[in-house]
Amino acid sequence: MSDESSKLRSQEWFGRKDKLGFLHRSWLRSEGFPGSVFSGKPVIGICNSWSELTNCNAHLRQVAEAVKRGVWSAGGFPLEFPTISLGEPFMRPSSMMFRNLMAMDVEESIRANPMDGVVLLCGCDKTTPAQLMGAASANLPSIFVTGGPMLKGIWRDKEIGSGTDVWHYWDELRAGRISEEDWCEIECAMSRSSGHCMVMGTASTMTSLTEALGMTLTGCANIPAADSRRFEIAHRSGERIVEMVREDLRPAKIITREALENAVRVDMAIGGSTNAIIHLKALAGRLGIDFPLERFDELSRETAVVANVQPSGKHLMEDMFYAGGIPVVMNDLLDQLHGHCLTVTGQTVAENVRGTACHNRKVILPREHALQPEGGTIILKGNLCPRGAVLKTSAASPKLLQHTGRALVFEDHADFMERIDSPDLDVDANSVLVLKNAGPIGGPGMPEYGNLSIPAKLLKQGVSDMVRISDARMSGTSYGTVVLHIAPESAVGGPLSLVRTGDEIRLDAAGRRLDLLIDDDEMQRRKSAWVAREQHYDRGYGKLFLESVLQADEGCDFSFLRGTGRAERKLPLAF
Ligand code: FES
Repeated sequence: MSDESSKLRSQEWFGRKDKLGFLHRSWLRSEGFPGSVFSGKPVIGICNSWSELTNCNAHLRQVAEAVKRGVWSAGGFPLEFPTISLGEPFMRPSSMMFRNLMAMDVEESIRANPMDGVVLLCGCDKTTPAQLMGAASANLPSIFVTGGPMLKGIWRDKEIGSGTDVWHYWDELRAGRISEEDWCEIECAMSRSSGHCMVMGTASTMTSLTEALGMTLTGCANIPAADSRRFEIAHRSGERIVEMVREDLRPAKIITREALENAVRVDMAIGGSTNAIIHLKALAGRLGIDFPLERFDELSRETAVVANVQPSGKHLMEDMFYAGGIPVVMNDLLDQLHGHCLTVTGQTVAENVRGTACHNRKVILPREHALQPEGGTIILKGNLCPRGAVLKTSAASPKLLQHTGRALVFEDHADFMERIDSPDLDVDANSVLVLKNAGPIGGPGMPEYGNLSIPAKLLKQGVSDMVRISDARMSGTSYGTVVLHIAPESAVGGPLSLVRTGDEIRLDAAGRRLDLLIDDDEMQRRKSAWVAREQHYDRGYGKLFLESVLQADEGCDFSFLRGTGRAERKLPLAF
């Protein structure tokens, strides 16, 4: 065995001459591996979030095979392993409730097992941040292969986008402008290949930001799932991770404060999902990096929205890929990025993307013709959200960004569902819809309720947007003038819990304010009378979640998972 091989972490398991070495090798031989795999080849874990319950990741078994070919060809020894997977459309009460559970699963699976490096396969919304958080905490050499977006949805002669056109056509159906038959056809036409949602929703945002952070090979994020180049980049990622092990290139060397700033810049430029703010905050927390919400707003003010992709723009992720994808966005932004940041390629951001040609300037716009001159997401403060709230201005109605209206309060989502389409609802186009008890604890798990449907009676009058505020999140595929992530949330007695129907609320996006227009004495009176609701869980993971989850402004991680902790200690091996 060479000196280099003897330093491999996996050799603590497989390189031993004692009884334990026998046990580790002998039991793995049951899978039919020859003895040569134990002689100092880097062991590469392939962390797979494949699941038939996560349709967006259902093709990742095939992607894993391509990764394995790359690992073998570079002289490594690949071993694929599963973790919990998080399917956005199905999980109750919200996939977000389980992001931290998956992050723990990823971290501990990596730490506990005999591997030297890991390739992480992700796609659907929460699977990417969960793997980023877990890999960052485990800090073994890591590279991401994202699953890629679905092909475009096509209904008759129209291109239709995941989620975004669901919300659009649902309102059309409720307003009587399309038929039940049309609605059924749209359902069949939307998701027509493997992959994740193909608008700039949370999945496309988080995979794009994983590339912007430097954790994928250049150009990985936007390749459609069904494109053969997805498997080629998986193969090359398998080759590259073996080199990364030899170079000892770990996430802590890549995911720095500057790399996070690059990711935020790219997030703003692509009109990314509001969920990205929560996930990047959580990732920063894992690495002990203080990254205040205000920094997101500062970067937003300096960054133009250039990706003309739904829900902020017109096109779909397939078009984004053909235009050149994230390397073009980053090349165009280079003067605003930290170009010296190291990436998994072993080269810097600038070396990876400089000179990348754009093939369609209608999809990735030149900065001088940006969708909007400032970034897609802003941070609000005010007496309704003392620790912050988020508004995606690129998907909002410009005329509602300065707005004062009368609150119409829903105490929780069930209350909203029961009353929103009532013909007796006392609401008009100027009203501000307010949803309480939808935050991390109140939801529980901060469900994507924030994009509250417009009341049916207003839809019929042609109203297509209203100011809506809550402590919930919203799908990255959604649009509208929707204030989200209010912190502290109503379930812990935040000011949102004190709003009553009829109060005036003022949104001042330019001034970055959200205020309840009542005086301080009245606010104090209501606060003294506030009573907490009974919590949702008294046992199990739900109880751990409620006891440990942080508020939205801190990324909703568990308090005990933040920071880098002690370096990995060699614990005794046992069999
Ligand atoms: Fe998986 Fe949208 S449902 S990415």
